[in-house]
Amino acid sequence: MNRPRLSAAVPALLLLVVPLTLRLARAASPAAGAALATSVCSACHGPDGNSLTSAFPKLAGQGQAYIVMALHEFKHGVRKNAIMQAMASTLTPDEMQDVAAYFSAQKTTPGFARKRYVALGRRIYQGGLPKQHVPACMACHGVNGRGNEPAAYPRLAGQWSAYVVLQLVAFAHNRRPSPHGIMNDIAKRLTPAQMKAVASYVQGLR
Ligand code: HEC
Ligand code: HEC
Repeated sequence: MNRPRLSAAVPALLLLVVPLTLRLARAASPAAGAALATSVCSACHGPDGNSLTSAFPKLAGQGQAYIVMALHEFKHGVRKNAIMQAMASTLTPDEMQDVAAYFSAQKTTPGFARKRYVALGRRIYQGGLPKQHVPACMACHGVNGRGNEPAAYPRLAGQWSAYVVLQLVAFAHNRRPSPHGIMNDIAKRLTPAQMKAVASYVQGLR
């Protein structure tokens, strides 16, 4: 008695489930991402994600999950930036994945640390500042500053030091959020001179 009803329901169910599964299983397309990156993002971030000035962060070699997260945060105004909110608002979730896959596969151009900042910068990066309760940056951002993709901890290696300082200041003043306030707590405990030193140091990492 129930059989005909059930078999009628199965195709209807498949109609719902199959597109959903395909959608979840959809792999990011770096080729589609490349087209988007070179037509839209390149004006500021450079065609391969290596921006030419510190006014724009480098995206080359940045973690895919982190880029996607940042785009969602800009889109919803959680991370506040008028330019990037406008940019991210035009992107679908699939396009965010594609463009992130493209930039994360590019090679970061090397940056350089200023000699006078290296000693202090390295000390903070590798060992933290125990007296100020600042943990070692290395613990999350990696020994060489390449970040931690599964955890979506961003790459810092090669990033423009002026951009890094701006972000640390934004974290310190709660103008930029971070999970559990991690970066806000850390940045509040750094002096401007310490921010400058560690930012210069990470620019020189590769
Ligand atoms: C008109 C210039 C401009 C364009 C075009 C632009 N961006 Fe940005 N982008 C910026 C600026 C400025 C920032 C830094 C924002 C801040 O200080 O928080 C930024 C930051 C970012 C960040 C955060 C990087 C980090 O290390 O946290 C990502 C990700 C990003 N942009 C992706 C993109 C993508 C993808 C596109 C193309 C769809 C794009 N941007 C187009 C100016 C631009
Ligand atoms: C416990 C883990 C942890 C430690 C330790 C840590 N960070 Fe972070 N950091 C994060 C996370 C998570 C984010 C991403 C925040 C977000 O955008 O949601 C981040 C983001 C950043 C950013 C922004 C990068 C970008 O591309 O915009 C900078 C700069 C930064 N951290 C510098 C540092 C420095 C310098 C130290 C050491 C003094 C440090 N971090 C220690 C977890 C950590």
